[in-house]
Amino acid sequence: MKKTRFITLEGSEGAGKSTNMDYIQKGLRAQGIDIVTTREPGGTPIGEDIRQLLLGHKHTGMSDDTELLLMFAARAEHLDKVIRPALEKGQWVLCDRFTDATYAYQGGGRGIASDRIATLENWTQAELRPDLTIYLDVPIETGRQRAGDRSAPDRFEKEQNAFFNKARKVYLDRAEQEPARFRVIDASTSLDQVQVYLDEVLQELVSKKR
Ligand code: TMP
Repeated sequence: MKKTRFITLEGSEGAGKSTNMDYIQKGLRAQGIDIVTTREPGGTPIGEDIRQLLLGHKHTGMSDDTELLLMFAARAEHLDKVIRPALEKGQWVLCDRFTDATYAYQGGGRGIASDRIATLENWTQAELRPDLTIYLDVPIETGRQRAGDRSAPDRFEKEQNAFFNKARKVYLDRAEQEPARFRVIDASTSLDQVQVYLDEVLQELVSKKR
């Protein structure tokens, strides 16, 4: 069986993505796995600058195609400088969001056709796809209530629930289409319960490693 090396974590607002990113990283490190953690958009100096453009409010009325291409520009740099080098060295990579987010937000949310996204995916990533994707699922209303007014909303967080509901649907559809790659975790329960589910996934990962 192929060793799992490239893991991505997805989730909507208020799903506990940051806390659980930390939990997964610690859990895998404790098993002696050499893991690089990173995020998208971002993960490199150029990528983090692009993230500012994408999430900030400096420019208003960004076109959907510009948004999509900036996501992939950041990704191309990330793949070149961080993800591929780590995988080539035999390290595992745990990435906070990846291309499933593009299908969800630019595809579902903005309405860009998925075959256009697939073209960019094939161009930028060639054969590379995540080996495992954990999706922390929470109904949008619950998640947003939970997230509350944590901080000033970024350009995406300003969107209405309808946008996030379309994104969530894409995640769930993709998970259904690719059950071998996806693990959907019900994140509407308590953090303790989510981590019980995560422990099961980590267990599965570590046993595959051996
Ligand atoms: P987050 O990492 O704090 O969740 O913020 C990143 C935001 O960017 C989030 O709202 C989802 C969005 N995003 C996209 O719209 N498309 C993408 O391809 C990625 C990676 C993120």
